[in-house]
Amino acid sequence: MKRVIRWAGLGLAGLVTVVLFAGLGAFAASEVLFRRSYPKAETQLVAARDPGAVERGRRVALINGCHDCHGKDLDGRMFHDEMPIFRGYGPNLTLAAAEQSDGELDSAIRHGVAADGRSLWIMPSEAFAELTDQETSDLLAYIRSFPVKGEEQPRSQIGPVGRLGLILGKFHSAPQMLRLDADRYRPDLGPTYAKGREVARACTECHGKDLRGREALKAPDLDVAAAYSPQDFATLLRTGVPPTGRDLGLMSGVARDRFSHLSDDEVAALYEYLRARADKGV
Ligand code: HEC
Ligand code: HEC
Repeated sequence: MKRVIRWAGLGLAGLVTVVLFAGLGAFAASEVLFRRSYPKAETQLVAARDPGAVERGRRVALINGCHDCHGKDLDGRMFHDEMPIFRGYGPNLTLAAAEQSDGELDSAIRHGVAADGRSLWIMPSEAFAELTDQETSDLLAYIRSFPVKGEEQPRSQIGPVGRLGLILGKFHSAPQMLRLDADRYRPDLGPTYAKGREVARACTECHGKDLRGREALKAPDLDVAAAYSPQDFATLLRTGVPPTGRDLGLMSGVARDRFSHLSDDEVAALYEYLRARADKGV
């Protein structure tokens, strides 16, 4: 009997060792993925300096949600706490702006690569890649208008479930997302709808580059917008409330915080574009 217990004990110890090593291996593998470096994008972009630049940049920042993750004063904040998946911290952009060149900031914003070559995670650069040079240099003017404030934020933390997702290829860094989505694009429906197509860029972050939806976020294909009347669509974008009155979670929040800054013309053009896209089935 004693011998059986001893063997069972040894077996258990062996199992614990295997699990421990597998866990360490998985941790190391996820760490390698998380810390992966890329060549920094050497962009020549410079911050706009004309009198209207800061105000134009403010609009770009509000519509694209920079403050949601980087804080009201851009001094950084914890914006998401969902352990054991991840805890997200937006870095202090006032410190980043003081230390980095315009080109380095552009590399982070539109290419997802930090000044030290690290790939950025959770920062939605794949959605910002399409910002025009003008929009980006206005945005830089706006970021640089904030006084340096506060401490450095910790880097976002990934919990065990998040690490598993990383290894299984469920989560991707910003440069990976840019590559994966390279051939997905929302359709060009000609000059009549060009303005609306441009505005729809702000929806790609969650509804996907081709607006066909993103399962991970439970964001649907935007052909659902065709079922809205123009008035209901405008109300959704201004207030986050759909005709059914249902709370749309993330969508309701971004509508109130971000899309309420779109002009009436922009909302109307976006609606026409989404209608036409749904009608044509593209
Ligand atoms: C969903 C949250 C989120 C949004 C929205 C967001 N960011 Fe970020 N951003 C992050 C996170 C997280 C990091 C750090 C990523 C990392 O270190 O892996 C980051 C990093 C950065 C960096 C690099 C900072 C450094 O210390 O080197 C810049 C610059 C930046 N963001 C600018 C912006 C701008 C401008 C916008 C709006 C157009 C924006 N971000 C919107 C989450 C966000
Ligand atoms: C930060 C993420 C995010 C962004 C950005 C975003 N959405 Fe959404 N949206 C969602 C999510 C998530 C849902 C699903 C909400 C639900 O069903 O609870 C959704 C749902 C919707 C719906 C369907 C609502 C319904 O009646 O069920 C419409 C229409 C919509 N979004 C339009 C837009 C448009 C237009 C834009 C760009 C201007 C946009 N969204 C940008 C996350 C986002």
